[in-house]
Amino acid sequence: MSTAVAGKGLEGVVAANSGICWIDGEVGVLSYRGIDIHELALNSTFEETTSLLWNGILPNALELREFQSQLALARSLDQRMIQMLRSFPHTATPMEVLRTAVSALSFYDADEKDNSHDANVRKCFNLTAQFAMIVAIYDRLRKGKKVVPPDRSMSHAANFLWMLNGVKPSETAVKTMDMALVLHAEHELNASTFAARVIAATLSDVHSAVTGAIGALKGPLHGGANEGVMRLLLTIDKAGADPVEYVKNMLAAKQKISGFGHRVYKTEDPRATHLRKMSEKLGKDAGQTKWFEMSRAIELYINADKKLNANVDFYSASTYATLGIDIDLYTPIFAISRMAGWAAHIIEQLDDNRLIRPRAEYIGPPYPAPYIPLEERG
Ligand SMILES: CC(C)(COP(=O)(O)OP(=O)(O)OC[C@H]1O[C@@H](n2cnc3c(N)ncnc32)[C@H](O)[C@@H]1OP(=O)(O)O)[C@@H](O)C(=O)NCCC(=O)NCCS
Repeated sequence: MSTAVAGKGLEGVVAANSGICWIDGEVGVLSYRGIDIHELALNSTFEETTSLLWNGILPNALELREFQSQLALARSLDQRMIQMLRSFPHTATPMEVLRTAVSALSFYDADEKDNSHDANVRKCFNLTAQFAMIVAIYDRLRKGKKVVPPDRSMSHAANFLWMLNGVKPSETAVKTMDMALVLHAEHELNASTFAARVIAATLSDVHSAVTGAIGALKGPLHGGANEGVMRLLLTIDKAGADPVEYVKNMLAAKQKISGFGHRVYKTEDPRATHLRKMSEKLGKDAGQTKWFEMSRAIELYINADKKLNANVDFYSASTYATLGIDIDLYTPIFAISRMAGWAAHIIEQLDDNRLIRPRAEYIGPPYPAPYIPLEERG
């Protein structure tokens, strides 16, 4: 057994063989199955990208149509799930609701106890479709609105916006959401994906692995950062403060700024490049450039002063804000997209499984420590 001790936070450790995603953090390359993220962002769709992630190659026209219809057909939730969503307190955040509801989805999945490859793929189609439905339905229920039935003729992005808002989404909104879903779909062994693989490797089940992954994504150091960015922009705006002065003070107080820094990228996160453009264009089209301008001022300052780059979460905040989406839906939207990557990794793990069980370097009291009887302890 190797006695090498990994760095704190497993930095730099290669923990699995995987054919899904390749990142070169030094030069800012991200690719899904070898295809550059810039090409996918500009040319692909969430459905095509998900098919690529799950099957290893781009689908042909027939395969893509089949994939799209399988995902659309999976837009179905047992009525008892909707009852459950109704019963949650409206103070529950959509991310907490998603985590809890996804765990319960296994009760109603016919393949619950089947851990075969084909059954796992079927469960992943269901979960991908159901994630978007749960987020949209819960948001409407907490606002006292009626549930909007899914539209199986729409794309994944369009159906989500339709079920969320109850109005046919604009072409721009669908294109923006679809591109955001492509950009967030996969990112190698990030914390939530690693959590999913660890759980899957115990031969638990897909729903358990995905529930654990949602819990990991929720944290402010991971997917929760996009909500942190928007809360910061709102706080600065409300205080009428200068954005640069505000973050300068935060940095002086050793506070972290959500949406900056990355464990792997030492240069610009290639996803941020697209989200910045999206945020700017949407803001201009909507005549509301405030969030973009504040974000840009903060980015330029932190870039110059701290040599820290914006990550995927920084401009997704102003992008979603301009689309009129509530802040606490930002991380669930990340989850709706990342379900594609989690699924690819869970399936890859189970296709060639071995329990993931590392060791710890023991730094506690020396062995053997004495067992002192209770009456003799101070
Ligand atoms: C992403 C993140 C968790 C990576 O963490 P990490 O690899 O463990 O890096 P560290 O937290 O050790 O940061 C290294 C240094 O950069 C600084 N730093 C990193 N991110 C920072 C941020 N967002 N704001 C201010 N300083 C930051 C740290 O304070 C540390 O400085 P030090 O060496 O002087 O102590 C971290 O950059 C972060 O907390 N970012 C904000 C949350 C976020 O946007 N998460 C989404 C990631 S996609």
